[in-house]
Order: sequence, then structure tokens, then C-alpha cells
Amino acid sequence: MSETDLVTGAFSYSGSRIAELLIDSGREVRTLTHHPDREHSLRARVQALPYRFGDPVALARSLEGITALYNTYWVRFERGRTTFANAVANSRALFEAARRAGVARIVHVSIANPSIDSPLPYYHGKARVEQALAKCGVPCAVVRPTFLFGGGRDILANNIAWILRRMPLFVVPGDGRYLVQPIHVDDLARICLQAAHGRSGVIMDAAGPDTMSFEELVRAIRDAVGRRTPILRAPPAVMAALARALGLVVRDVVLTADEIRGLTAGLLVSHQPALGHISFLEWLKEEGPALGSAYANELGRHFRMPRASARV
Ligand SMILES: NC(=O)c1ccc[n+]([C@@H]2O[C@H](COP(=O)([O-])OP(=O)(O)OC[C@H]3O[C@@H](n4cnc5c(N)ncnc54)[C@H](OP(=O)(O)O)[C@@H]3O)[C@@H](O)[C@H]2O)c1
Repeated sequence: MSETDLVTGAFSYSGSRIAELLIDSGREVRTLTHHPDREHSLRARVQALPYRFGDPVALARSLEGITALYNTYWVRFERGRTTFANAVANSRALFEAARRAGVARIVHVSIANPSIDSPLPYYHGKARVEQALAKCGVPCAVVRPTFLFGGGRDILANNIAWILRRMPLFVVPGDGRYLVQPIHVDDLARICLQAAHGRSGVIMDAAGPDTMSFEELVRAIRDAVGRRTPILRAPPAVMAALARALGLVVRDVVLTADEIRGLTAGLLVSHQPALGHISFLEWLKEEGPALGSAYANELGRHFRMPRASARV
């Protein structure tokens, strides 16, 4: 009988690519998700259980028989009862449940450049989760992606393309010269699977082969979608106000002020040799014609649909 791994969020973005790779390599996959009933191509092949962060016994039970836990769980921004503090507590509960269930290895997806001293709650929270992981006693590996593209569910590149297609202009915050280094979601999934078999305690960035300024990235997307939308520079506060205004139109949180601060501070880049192979610029040539045809809505994915764990 093949071994079973658990991937959190297997019907969501990066988790679905990790789950797919595991299934292709002959392993059984279970998932924890807020949306076990979500329409997804993996639904018939993945056993789906709801996250039960508030019930340590049930959470540990859902991890019984698992060899490796691939953890993608996190929240992009705070909203209502969804807070970074809760996400840290939930992550800690998940690691503790994995320990109780005898999980052999945790591969945790974090983010490039987390810091306990960061003024940005996302990056500070991610650092706290890494600390909790290191203390939980389960052999582990930490994979820190910069920002993801590809796989049909990316938000940033897709929505930049969407704006370039539909809006009269595109605004980049600040001077636009801070660097970004996107990683393809399939590269991330491959790196995660390798991390499951590598040395315990390892921490590695997951970044792609192309590093460019943010303005160059926006220009490359504009070329790929075949538009001539003017690209202007504006102070980050202006960009944040525009993002809020656009959010009212598309009923989403387009980009938070903190995300703009992280972007302009150059946090979406790695300072290690790139482990990703798939070039963002090459990918754009293929995907450009369709990229941004539809807006990818974060609130729609994670906040509007009823959550299974709210019912249990
Ligand atoms: N996407 C990027 O560009 C990027 C860049 C750097 C680092 N990362 C890190 O990579 C990991 C995976 O990112 P991803 O984009 O692949 O995430 P995702 O698929 O959108 O979500 C991963 C998991 O977290 C849950 N989740 C997401 N938002 C939530 C919310 N607001 N409330 C409650 N649960 C929520 C999802 O629940 P459901 O299963 O119910 O959908 C899913 O199980 C995260 O740790 C993220 O910090 C992502």
C-alpha cells in the first residue's frame, strides 16, 4: 500500500500543484481545507477533511497515518475574525496535531524574507510560525517562495494583466525600481517534494531564474497582453488609495498598504541562488494572450464561500 501525505489547501493554489505532483509520484493524498466541497479536478483523488483548528483531538485525528504534512495554510490579509494572530495560533495547533499524530516530516511553505522584527504583520506572523515549527519537535523543512505565478490561479500577475487590459493607466508605487523574482508554482511544488526527503531543519528560498524591477515586470506583462496602457509612478499612498478604489469596483482587496510596503522594500526577491527553473518571461510569452482575461478575486475564494469548518 502506498503512503499517504497531507497537503493543506489541495483544492486551492499552491497546495493543488503539490498534491498533483504527489499523486503523480504514486502517493495517496489527504487534504485539510475550509472548502472540502469546492469544485476541483483533484476532488475524486484526494480525501478532503475540514480544518478543525479549535479541536486539537479532531485535528490530530485528521493527521493520523500521514507520512509528510505539506503546509500551505496562511491568510493574505486580516478581515473580520480572520487575523494574523489567529493564523499563527492555527498554524501552531496544526504542528502540534502533527506531532501528536506521529507525522514524520513537515514541509512548511513560508515566504521569502520573513522577520520577527518586521513592522509588516504578514512577515512578522510568518516568522512566528517558523519559530513555532522549529519548536514543535517534528522533523521539518521550510520553503520560502518570493511570489507565485502560473498554474491558472495566480493573483498578482493575472490581476496586473487584468488592470492593463481594462484600465486607462497603470500606477506603480514609488520609483518602480525595487526588484521582484517570481517563482512558478510548479517549481515551488517540486522544491517542496524534494524538501520532504532532504535534511531536517533546512530553510530554503524558492525563487525563479528571472529577477527584474517591478516596473520591468509590469512592462513585460503589458507587452504580453498586447496593450499600450501608460505606466505611471506615484507615491505608495496614492497607489494604496487607487487599489482601495479599484477594490470597491471589483469587490475585492486588490493590494493592501502593507503589501505595497513589502513590494517597495524589495522583499519579493531572494538573496540565494535561484532554485526555480521556469522563466517568468518565457511563461509570459505563452500565457500572455489569455492572462488577465478574468479578474482573480481573493475575497471570492477565501471569504465569500461558506467555510466547512464554520459548520463543525
Ligand atoms: N501566492 C503567492 O504569491 C505567495 C507568495 C509567497 C508566499 N506564499 C505562501 O505560500 C503559501 C500558500 O499560498 P497560496 O497562495 O497557495 O495560498 P492559498 O492556496 O490561497 O491558501 C492556502 C491555504 O490557506 C487557506 N486560506 C487562504 N486564505 C485564507 C483565509 N483568508 N482564511 C482562512 N484560510 C485561508 C486556504 O483555504 P482553502 O483550502 O479553504 O482554500 C488553503 O487551505 C502561503 O503560506 C503563502 O503565505 C504565497
